[in-house]
Amino acid sequence: MKIKTGNLLLAVLAAVGLGLPLAAPAADAVQSLRGRTVDDAALQPGNYAVEKDHAPAAREYVQQPPLIPHKIDGYNITTNFNKCMDCHSWTRYREAGATKVSLTHFKDRDGKELSNISPRRYFCNQCHVVQTDAKPLVENKFKKAEGLQ
Ligand code: HEC
Ligand code: HEC
Repeated sequence: MKIKTGNLLLAVLAAVGLGLPLAAPAADAVQSLRGRTVDDAALQPGNYAVEKDHAPAAREYVQQPPLIPHKIDGYNITTNFNKCMDCHSWTRYREAGATKVSLTHFKDRDGKELSNISPRRYFCNQCHVVQTDAKPLVENKFKKAEGLQ
């Protein structure tokens, strides 16, 4: 039997209208992060435990902002005060036993060298993050940069 495109389209529309399953994948095989239906509750944040304090982690590529190897609960950054700089500034790092902020953090966006932390580096958590025990959402084959293997 010869099926005209028009007839086929009608059949598909009818099937959809009747709620008949069309082809694989079955609807319940597809799942979003939220769940199967749009009105499922979103996953609650905060169910993951931040890693315990540990020695600085090895970097995956040379330009990587180093991961934060300690908890940062309550380390606030406001217009007047930056808690991170309490330990990481060039005047405090020895006392705190912390790494001093990189020299690159004193350069403004035009490449001008400043004597204090550059505004573009003020919000440390834009780039530096802690790790949690969350499992990867998708499988991946990420490998360290060749120079660091
Ligand atoms: C109470 C002091 C203290 C405060 C506050 C603090 N840190 Fe640290 N931080 C340390 C110490 C100490 C280390 C080094 C740990 C070690 O060598 O074992 C460190 C390590 C780090 C490292 C790793 C450096 C490397 O070479 O791998 C990063 C990144 C970092 N901190 C970022 C931050 C950020 C961002 C904040 C603010 C949210 C912050 N820290 C607040 C004490 C502090
Ligand atoms: C725009 C991204 C960015 C911001 C914002 C930023 N950093 Fe960094 N940080 C980096 C990168 C990238 C590196 C590694 C390359 C380098 O040294 O510049 C680094 C390196 C460091 C290191 C390691 C230095 C070393 O000698 O190994 C420390 C400590 C650090 N940052 C602390 C901080 C703190 C504290 C703040 C906030 C006051 C901050 N950073 C803000 C990107 C950032």
